[in-house]
Amino acid sequence: MRVTIFGASGLLGQALMREWHGDAVTGLSSSDADIRDEGQVRRLVQEQRPDWVVLAAAYTDVDGCENSPDLAFAVNRDGAVNVAIAAKMAGARLLFLSSDYVFDGKKTTPYEINDARHPQSVYGRTKAEAEINLLGLLPNCCIVRTSWLFGLGGKCFPDTILKLAASRPSLDVVNDQRGCPTYAVDLAHTIIQLCKKNSDGILHATNGGDCTWFEFAKEIVRGAELNTAVRPVTSQQMARPAPRPAYSVLSPARLQGLGIEMPPWRDALGRYLKERLR
Ligand SMILES: NC(=O)c1ccc[n+]([C@@H]2O[C@H](COP(=O)([O-])OP(=O)(O)OC[C@H]3O[C@@H](n4cnc5c(N)ncnc54)[C@H](OP(=O)(O)O)[C@@H]3O)[C@@H](O)[C@H]2O)c1
Repeated sequence: MRVTIFGASGLLGQALMREWHGDAVTGLSSSDADIRDEGQVRRLVQEQRPDWVVLAAAYTDVDGCENSPDLAFAVNRDGAVNVAIAAKMAGARLLFLSSDYVFDGKKTTPYEINDARHPQSVYGRTKAEAEINLLGLLPNCCIVRTSWLFGLGGKCFPDTILKLAASRPSLDVVNDQRGCPTYAVDLAHTIIQLCKKNSDGILHATNGGDCTWFEFAKEIVRGAELNTAVRPVTSQQMARPAPRPAYSVLSPARLQGLGIEMPPWRDALGRYLKERLR
């Protein structure tokens, strides 16, 4: 199988490049191809003739998106459309990474794949509009929604908590947003399996179980054997430019139906900490 990965230098992209064996995989960063440049994207995909294009490139700074909506839509929606058109012209399958932020967070039970999109932030809107455009262009594309991604080789929540905990006696962390942490390595394995199974449609892929950011931070500090106190606070006390969904747990039902079970998030965090602290 020939595979082209956009966003290969990101958190997920690096894990995909490390974990994908036995196929001809080419990884592209923004310096190889800016997905806003339709011509460049088309030329590269034509040259590489991939069976699968994995689109993990995005402008992922959620607060940055709120402050720079033009850039956010140009990369996350229009850039995704450029990649989809290139994939279509080359006869390649497309797997697109989307987000729990396409939902409004008002549910209290896990979001199913067909629940209505109702994004609350610019980032969420860019992803929701990209999904709709891509399904129109390539009805058999594969859309993988994930959440709370962490991994080696980039900025992520556990990395930030470890750095802050090393220099502070206590940390305040929000306890009124619930979601599913996802280890980039486990998500990479799921994506590889989905491509090998020739999957299509919308899927939710996160580690098993859910927690609040406060519960996640407590487990990080405990796992790293640090003495830092972690204190629960509300989102209101930690105001940020972009609103976050209060509840964005994604149901794994369709993924499980394909025979793919992702490990529980505590197990995933343990493996991350072992690598990170080694
Ligand atoms: N992080 C999360 O918590 C989270 C949650 C849900 C969904 N997702 C989605 O999962 C995917 C992977 O996220 P991630 O955390 O791995 O992202 P990331 O670490 O922020 O990496 C982003 C990647 O996109 C590339 N990129 C940015 N702008 C680009 C452009 N204009 N043209 C081409 N490439 C560009 C970056 O390249 P350079 O390194 O060259 O800049 C980098 O490789 C994204 O689609 C994201 O929206 C992430």
